[in-house]
Amino acid sequence: MPSHSSAARGAWRSRTGFLLAAAGSAVGLGNIWRFPYITGENGGGAFVFVYLGCVALLGLPILIAEVLLGRATQRSAVPAFHRLAGERSPWAAIGLLGVAASVLILSFYSVVAGWALHYAQLSARGALTGLSADEVAATFGAVAADPWLSAFWMLVFMGLTTWVVVRGVHRGLELCSKALMPVLLALLLVLLVRAASLPGWGPGISFVFGLHASDLTANGILEALGHAFFTLSVGVGGLLAYGSYLDRDTDVPQSGLAIAGLDTLIALLACAVLFPILFTHGQEPSQGPGLIFVNLPIAFAGLPGGRFLATVFFLLLVLAALTSTISLLEVATAYLVDARGWTRRRAAVLSAACIALLGIPSALSGGPGLFGERLRAALGGSWLDLAADVSSNWMVPIGGLGIALFAGWRWNELARRAEFGRGSSLARWYRLWLGLLRWLVPAAVVLVFLHAVGVV
Ligand code: TRP
Repeated sequence: MPSHSSAARGAWRSRTGFLLAAAGSAVGLGNIWRFPYITGENGGGAFVFVYLGCVALLGLPILIAEVLLGRATQRSAVPAFHRLAGERSPWAAIGLLGVAASVLILSFYSVVAGWALHYAQLSARGALTGLSADEVAATFGAVAADPWLSAFWMLVFMGLTTWVVVRGVHRGLELCSKALMPVLLALLLVLLVRAASLPGWGPGISFVFGLHASDLTANGILEALGHAFFTLSVGVGGLLAYGSYLDRDTDVPQSGLAIAGLDTLIALLACAVLFPILFTHGQEPSQGPGLIFVNLPIAFAGLPGGRFLATVFFLLLVLAALTSTISLLEVATAYLVDARGWTRRRAAVLSAACIALLGIPSALSGGPGLFGERLRAALGGSWLDLAADVSSNWMVPIGGLGIALFAGWRWNELARRAEFGRGSSLARWYRLWLGLLRWLVPAAVVLVFLHAVGVV
């Protein structure tokens, strides 16, 4: 029989602990790796503006709903839906989809996080210093083409993640986030101070914050929406589990604002650091996923103190990724603990092992051989790209939509209103929140899907 006492499940010891863990989940590779390169590809300015709107009007309401569902039921996703909608309810499928999505996300995410770890030690050892632009590019090419190197660092990263999750909610997730998030912010500020002293500061800042609408396409708008979900970590039940470890009187709407605010701040700071450095060294902003693994090291190589700064940057990336991977592993772990009655250690270790196995094709996908060349030819893209596309562009928005529909339409009105207002100074925003969940979120997600399949 699963044990549901909070002693067996775990709980946060402080509100700050919860806030930093949730913000740590949100702040990750999405903020520092992906957001800058999609901003670069979409021409900056107007794209950033649309993204901010998507975070505030679509992502934030779902984030609040997800945490509230967890806090209300004190259960993670699948049992939470059972509790509110009945044992046989089809709504529980949203929870299962979330478990699958988090597993798939973590399988490729840990490969990219592994690259960050590899680059952190390369920079610290000075292996990237004094290289020409071609040599830096060749280094990244070599990482992708030496799949066992990617697999090795991915496994190291999964090991770290598992260690934190096994330690539990308070001693693992909470303490880890409380220790790492301030360091992360400090590292970012070190880089910001340096970026502000460079000749590329002005052009870099105007690229990110200036409005040049002409560059924005319909695809860019949809990309902004998809990324808003991904960066806030909504839609897979991770925040629902985090909410389930909360006591009943935490101000959830206000916490949601703080989490989304911090996440946005860090994404913008990452851009304010990267673009001035890139522009100072004549690098193009629209380079895609290689932006921080190729163009950034090229820029660092030409900067006094570049070795130190590069090390700081990749360390920052590692820390940001780790507080996110623990939240991703927590989804499957919490499911196995709550719904199947497993111990946390067994749940975390076995999930991590399966995820690492699933990550191998991603690690090998840039190289030669069966999972590399041959699969790329068959799929028309690498396995890593495919896993990223299916999970972030389809599973996450479907999960977010499911949570919005459930919380907006299926959840009992009295219970929902009471839960939103409990302990909250923002209870008067209830109607607005509900309206966004019921109408704007579904409309926006459906529009994205229609566009993706080519209808609009
Ligand atoms: N939000 C994280 C990032 O931006 C990634 C992440 C962690 C995530 N947990 C998630 C994404 C759950 C979707 C769902 O890097």
